[in-house]
Amino acid sequence: MTDQNISQHIEKLRNLLQRWNYAYHTLDKPEVPDSEYDRVFQELLDLETQFPQFISSDSPTQRVGGVPLESFSKVAHKLPMLSLNNGFTEEDLADFDRRAREKLNVETLEYTAEPKIDGLAVSIRYEQGLLIQAATRGDGSIGEDITQNVRTIKCIPLKLLKNKEIPDILEIRGEIFMSKAGFLDLNQKSERKFANPRNAAAGSIRQLDSTMTAQRPLEFICYGVGEIQNGTLPNTQFEILQTLYKWGIPIAKELQLVRDKTGCLQYYSEILKKRENLPFEIDGVVYKINNISDQVALGFVSRAPRWALAHKLPAQEKLTQLQAIEIQVGRTGVLTPVARLTPVQVGGVTVTNATLHNADFIKEKDIRINDFVNIRRAGDVIPEIVSVVLSLRSDNSEEFEFPSNCPICNSPIIQKSKFFQCTGGFSCSAQRKQSIEHFASKKAMNIDGLGEKLIEQLVDKNIIQTVADLYDLKHEQLVNLDLMGETSANNILQAIENSKKTTLGKFLFSLGINEIGETTAQILANHFETLERILNCTDLENETTNISGIGKERSKSIGTFFNNETNRQIINRLIKNGIQFEEKAISVVENNSNIAGKIFVLTGTLQSMTREQAGFKIESLGGKVSNTLSKKTHYLIVGNEAGNKIAKAEKLGVQFIDEPTFLKWLENKD
Ligand code: IVH
Repeated sequence: MTDQNISQHIEKLRNLLQRWNYAYHTLDKPEVPDSEYDRVFQELLDLETQFPQFISSDSPTQRVGGVPLESFSKVAHKLPMLSLNNGFTEEDLADFDRRAREKLNVETLEYTAEPKIDGLAVSIRYEQGLLIQAATRGDGSIGEDITQNVRTIKCIPLKLLKNKEIPDILEIRGEIFMSKAGFLDLNQKSERKFANPRNAAAGSIRQLDSTMTAQRPLEFICYGVGEIQNGTLPNTQFEILQTLYKWGIPIAKELQLVRDKTGCLQYYSEILKKRENLPFEIDGVVYKINNISDQVALGFVSRAPRWALAHKLPAQEKLTQLQAIEIQVGRTGVLTPVARLTPVQVGGVTVTNATLHNADFIKEKDIRINDFVNIRRAGDVIPEIVSVVLSLRSDNSEEFEFPSNCPICNSPIIQKSKFFQCTGGFSCSAQRKQSIEHFASKKAMNIDGLGEKLIEQLVDKNIIQTVADLYDLKHEQLVNLDLMGETSANNILQAIENSKKTTLGKFLFSLGINEIGETTAQILANHFETLERILNCTDLENETTNISGIGKERSKSIGTFFNNETNRQIINRLIKNGIQFEEKAISVVENNSNIAGKIFVLTGTLQSMTREQAGFKIESLGGKVSNTLSKKTHYLIVGNEAGNKIAKAEKLGVQFIDEPTFLKWLENKD
């Protein structure tokens, strides 16, 4: 194949993926099964690995996140990002509608109506159809540059669908949020619990390490535009959003055109009915006058437009009493305080417990035993304490103190920033139970039927201690347990046997390494290809920090896990007991002798690609990128306006190469 053919084929794959992405995320109508998407994605990834000269920043493969930032830089908004006036009652809505009609001197008005999603406002700038910058709202005038993080959100197009009408500069505005399902899933998977979807979204988007953001289920819905240059948009709010949708930008499915306050009210009551079933949390609905010239004529008062209103929904909160605080011990020993509450109905469900997250949460909210507290259901599911009603506090309220020993195994408890942690490790049965549960779960080793109740019995009766013991289980040990019989015992043993055939990625995930989710486990598997290589690696932390998509925090955790002798013993026993990995290396990279096995440091600006892309290309060819020069560095790649690294490289005797040489090497030419 000639270079031109390859580049055309790559372009074809990208366009296909872009179209499927649009169908899946924006239209919500998947065109192909996930497996087909994955196959084409892999084909593109393989081609880009083989021919890195064709990687471009708008490729669907470039969403894994990049080198961590030191801090966010500031972005000045060309047009300020405003907020909305709130209305709480029918009267507030009537006033808003009347004032607008009087000012415009019209009898009747058309509005767009859409949900007010509880997330974070963001501005995203496209130039020539390519995403070039994203910023938070900040104070409305100056926000923070979160481009790296926004690029990892799959439903946000890196490139708009081809259309000659797209303005040269198009700034869109909308809400980044986490769906209720995404939030619940994240909280279940990670040791760090977020109080609600909004906090989870905020915490995820403000990560300096974008590889962390890439793992979070963030979504985006556009509700308006900012700066536009060299191009025009329709003259109604509704048509503008429809046009953006046509270009690949997600908008609210619930967007509707309504007339007058009666139409608004009808929309409000429909949304109120649907609230529980909406995939995201909302705190209101937003009405905007549809005609843009009317919007311009009405203008703004202080920082809110006169042409829009946020009609707030009633908060779903209830009052109840906190009877006790109990401690739960998680998989990694982190202690989570849980509030036992006098049962109360919230949004149609009886709530008896609420998580108190950690010591800081209890302190900040000044929560005491016997207090009266307001409860709401975060993500409309997880009950949380919103506030304490101090006016109802009585003399019998009691401050809570974390125990100094684990309530399960009595090991000493240590404090790590805002978390308390049991030091018992494998000697703590709570930790053992949870790590076994994680190991057996569907996305890990998928041992069907091995659930919480059974694991509890197996651990409490000392039949098993670690995950490795599962593979020594005998029929007679199972058959007499509660809720077990001949058939179920046989089924469990069969499920355990079946689980032996797995993939390296799933196996690594099942080990329950702190902070290592499915995606990171798969990245590790792709990088090392075999378990032996991981076990034989002498400095895993260092080796993994430079892998694209891993980042510092997780590489530390990987290093700590594999340095632990008990963990290594368990892994060895699992392998001895017959765990096997089905997959082969994901892509066999053509041996590039200049790059494979070499350590590179980059300095200055490259003309043909960003540093991030250069790093990605080097890694995909088996090389490594480091941030600091040392004697171990093989080559310093020197771009424009290189700093003092050249002098340092000379001192250390590190060879340096210019950009044309580097490009030749990427193509595997000398
Ligand atoms: S319009 C000039 N529309 O609410 C209009 N905002 O209270 C500015 N929000 O900062 C915003 N859904 O984060 C608009 N459909 C929607 C919205 C929405 C959520 C948020 C947004 C904004 C805040 C204003």
